[in-house]
Amino acid sequence: MNLQLDEQGRLRHLLTTEGLSGALVSEILDTAESFIPVGDQAVKNVPLLRGRTIVNLFFEPSTRTRTTFELAAKRLSADVLNFQMEGSSKAKGEDDLDTLYTLQAMQVDMFVIRHRANGAAAHFARHAASHVSILNAGDGTNAHPTQALLDAFTIRRHKPDFARLKVAIVGDVLHSRVAQSNIHCLKALGVTDIRIVAPPALMMENPRALDVTPFHDLATGIRDANVVMALRLQHERMHERKIESLERYRAEYGLTHDSLAPAAADVIIMHPGPINRGVEIDEDVAYGPRSVILEQVSNGIAVRMAVMAMIIRNREPSNIA
Ligand code: CP
Repeated sequence: MNLQLDEQGRLRHLLTTEGLSGALVSEILDTAESFIPVGDQAVKNVPLLRGRTIVNLFFEPSTRTRTTFELAAKRLSADVLNFQMEGSSKAKGEDDLDTLYTLQAMQVDMFVIRHRANGAAAHFARHAASHVSILNAGDGTNAHPTQALLDAFTIRRHKPDFARLKVAIVGDVLHSRVAQSNIHCLKALGVTDIRIVAPPALMMENPRALDVTPFHDLATGIRDANVVMALRLQHERMHERKIESLERYRAEYGLTHDSLAPAAADVIIMHPGPINRGVEIDEDVAYGPRSVILEQVSNGIAVRMAVMAMIIRNREPSNIA
């Protein structure tokens, strides 16, 4: 049984990009495209989710994901509750599932959940009531599906021919849920040339199993790439020392004006954020003419609107076969 799809293959929850078909990913991106104009309207909302209740339940910190999910829900006219961990009964030791059950009893339609544990989103989905959908906003090092979808959406707006792309994902791949989700998403869309560039201590365990090509040398890994995606060094997930020094890491793997020279002339530079300035990426690259990092942030609203709208639409009685 596929936990995130219904019997018609439509989204019921969004837990991972693994196993999503290219057609379904494209439908999400097309739906997101239709929502882009909402952000340019004087009144920035449409009534699609009026009367629906969405709870942001973030057990880990977030700036981009939490705020863009909130704005996305509000632009769809849903009622949004941002659950505050600080000051909640979590401080008295309340179990995560009891928190879910308690909020679920308030006629919530959808939870957007970020959690430190791998597989947490699927765990919540297995225990949620049948009228509730779970959207994974990042679980441990496992998956961050809406980040991958907004990355694919951003790439498609600049480079629509996925089959011709050369994508290099650079940095702390070992701890990156973004890398995992991007690989599945890009492959579903037909990208065949995906390179993973990382020092040996931060390389994913079995890149060949995911049909991606590992590199330890930045210049070789990004040669002729037309998408270079930097990843944050995730110090909070490193339980032992993985790099010699930040200076050495920057010298070998940092995206700088000079280090990007081997990439294609039309390369776009991406980063899911937050960035470690002057470590994995320099400020003038992050905010320079080839960067689409802030577009990624903006596009996150339309992509998250698309996912929420599609899931609620799939749950309408008239759409349930
Ligand atoms: N990209 C991302 O997940 O950023 P936040 O942690 O700020 O949400």
